[in-house]
Amino acid sequence: MSLLNILHYPDERLHLKASVVTEFDAKLKQLVADMAETMYDSNGIGLAATQVNVQKRLFITDLAKNDEPSQLTVYINPVIRNKIGEIKGEEGCLSVPGVFEPVIRAEQITVDYQDLDGKLHTITCSGLKAICIQHENDHLDGKVFVDYLSGLKQNFIKKKMKKLFKK
Ligand code: NI
Repeated sequence: MSLLNILHYPDERLHLKASVVTEFDAKLKQLVADMAETMYDSNGIGLAATQVNVQKRLFITDLAKNDEPSQLTVYINPVIRNKIGEIKGEEGCLSVPGVFEPVIRAEQITVDYQDLDGKLHTITCSGLKAICIQHENDHLDGKVFVDYLSGLKQNFIKKKMKKLFKK
């Protein structure tokens, strides 16, 4: 396994639209294993392939608390439907380290997705899980949570990132 390089906002590659996964092969399993290692290494709760510069429609999440066993879930070719209600939560992102801002999302969602074997699943969820899935799914469409914030905040965050990742 190996740690992958996480792209940082405002890297333009974070705005690329990912394409559908068609091959459920060893290469895909390796990518997911590397993504999981990378997410845990950064103490994240979610990571989309887009963030490691792979434009494929998949992301992983693990919402387990520190004292709970791992709940690593792989969402491949996810489709969100039946969005109900609104919830505002403080969001952060491994591509925008140190920034946490409130974003409004659907409170409850239904998601169709495939697992690593290509098997189809459907879940309905709410709260933090629903927020996390909507956040990660956005990455696959080239959207970062910062895009929902005011222009003023976006500029402030861009400056902050420039300082943080000075080359
Ligand atoms: Ni993110």
